[in-house]
Formats: sequence, C-alpha cells, structure tokens
Amino acid sequence: MRPMLEEAVGEIYRNLLPEKMVVADLGCSSGPNTLVVLSEVIKIISNQCLRVGQQPPEMQFFLNDLRNNDFNNLFRSLDHVEQRLRVGKGTISVPYFVAGLPGSFYGGLFPRHSVHFFHSSYSLMWISQEQFHRDFSHFLKLRFDELVPCGQMVLSFLGRNKKDKLDGEMSTIYGLLAEALDSMVREGLVEEEKFDTFNLPLFVPSSKEVEVIVKLQGLYDIIHFQTFESNLDPFDDDLDDNVVLDNVQSGANCAKVIRSVFEPMIANHFGSAIVDDLFSRYATNVAKHLLKEKLMLPVLALSLKKKEVT
Ligand SMILES: C[S@@+](CC[C@H](N)C(=O)[O-])C[C@H]1O[C@@H](n2cnc3c(N)ncnc32)[C@H](O)[C@@H]1O
Repeated sequence: MRPMLEEAVGEIYRNLLPEKMVVADLGCSSGPNTLVVLSEVIKIISNQCLRVGQQPPEMQFFLNDLRNNDFNNLFRSLDHVEQRLRVGKGTISVPYFVAGLPGSFYGGLFPRHSVHFFHSSYSLMWISQEQFHRDFSHFLKLRFDELVPCGQMVLSFLGRNKKDKLDGEMSTIYGLLAEALDSMVREGLVEEEKFDTFNLPLFVPSSKEVEVIVKLQGLYDIIHFQTFESNLDPFDDDLDDNVVLDNVQSGANCAKVIRSVFEPMIANHFGSAIVDDLFSRYATNVAKHLLKEKLMLPVLALSLKKKEVT
C-alpha cells in the first residue's frame, strides 16, 4: 500500500503545491492504523518538500468514523505520531493539525472542493451485491464533489478471488465463527432459534465488479488497481511461510480483527452479553485452524484520481 500512497500524495503535492493540504481517513476506527497512515503522509510530504525545495504546507487531517467510535482513545494515541515522526537529519518538520470527524461516509462530510486526499482501509463493506452497487457509487459521487481538482483517493477493502460468490476465503472465517456460536448453543448460552435466524451478510466484490462501477460512473481515472492477499493477523508479517509460530497469539489477533467488523451485527442480534465469550471461543477455533494454514484474505486496493470536468 505504501507505494500507492506515496505516488498519490506525492503527485497531488507536486501538481498543486498547496499552502494548506486537507487529508481525510474514512473509517479510521480508534487506532492504531489510522495514525500510521497519518505519519506516512506527513513523511511523504516532508520528502517531497525537500525534493522540490519548498516550504512544507500546513496539513489538516480529519479522522472520520461513525459517531459511536472511540475517538477519545484515538486522540490519546496521538503521541505515537510524534514518536514516529521524530525529525531526523535531512527531514523537514511539517506542521499538522488533527480533528475527529464523526458521521457516516455515506453522507456528505466536507464542503465542495475542499479535500486533497482521501484514504480508507478495510472500512467499505457491503451486505449485498445490490447495496454494493448503490452505496459504492454514492460514496464515489460524494467524494468526487468534496475533492479539489486533481484530488485523489486510495481505497482498500476486502474482495474475492473466486468467481463463485459463496466459495470465497470468507467462508472459512464464517465457518469458524459458526462453530463458536454452535458451541454456545450446545451449552445453553445462546438460544437455538436466534442461532438459526442469524445471517452474517457480507458481500465481497471481485476486482471486475469494482472496475465496472468506477468506469460506469466516469468520475475518476483508475491510476492503480491491485489485488493482494492480506494476512488476517495484522501482526504476522512473515509472508514467505505458511506456518504460524505462535498460533494462540495469532488466533487472538485474528479474532480482534473479525470482532471489529462483526461485533455490531452480532450484538444487535444476540445482545452484547455474549460477545466477549463468543470471540474468546472464536480465537481458540482460529488458533486451531492456524496449525493447518494461515488465514489469508484477498484485498482490493485502488488509487483513483478525480477527472477534470470539461
Ligand atoms: C475494520 S475497521 C478499519 C479501521 C482502519 N481503517 C484500519 O485499516 O485498521 C472499520 C471501521 O470502519 C468504520 N465504518 C464502517 N462504516 C462506516 C461508515 N458508513 N462511515 C464511517 N465509518 C464507518 C467502522 O466503525 C470501523 O471503525
């Protein structure tokens, strides 16, 4: 992702040489990934300024998520950005300001033509193909209006490799969750009827389906489009090996990721009282599965540039 980010942010800066630059991370959660993105963008700008011999712009970052997001935790972690950015030799200090922005990215978030760069990772998700068509198109149109001319965005979200919509890698992940729920039904902790009526909807599009929507809409040039495999455990960066060294820790890491995605739907259907127990069982199931193979998910990543209106 870093090369895509570097190219997009660098190009916006070189094209516009703005005095003030507005960047927004959509679906930032409560950290830490959004802060990594924030520091990376600052580093990229610092390097660009050195290259072109310009004073750095003032950077305004907006961290967006739904209203119930734990923004306080996020703000408390801002010190980490300072640590990541320690100005070393040959770097320029970039002035930056950070604000939280509560609200859904399926609504307008900014005044027209006011944002230079949007970033969003693992936050765009859809429950059906119809919703994907409708909401993704709507999202693209909203951001088009908000971007400055020459503005860009880098988006990444879960996708699928296989043509068959049901036989994707997500089915393994669902299966392990269903096993955890089933064990709670057997112990009388979850009602059988609730279990039978639970449907975990998630539609993961193929790269072709995404491309068709972007092209149909005609508002953006696709600069890059990649599909890559991402480890469900964000802390396992050993790409060469299919063996997990600490399957228990890795199972817990994976469970955390899945919980951040599905907790609202699960709490809504079963009540929040079961959530801790469920994800602890889920972590155990994942840990067992990791003895056989890692859980890899296909991710689609694309950088889009706002088309000029003629
Ligand atoms: C799996 S987390 C991803 C967090 C972070 N971007 C990352 O890469 O680790 C997804 C986040 O998207 C947020 N989200 C989901 N739908 C949203 C919406 N319509 N508007 C704003 N945020 C949304 C969720 O609240 C959640 O914090």
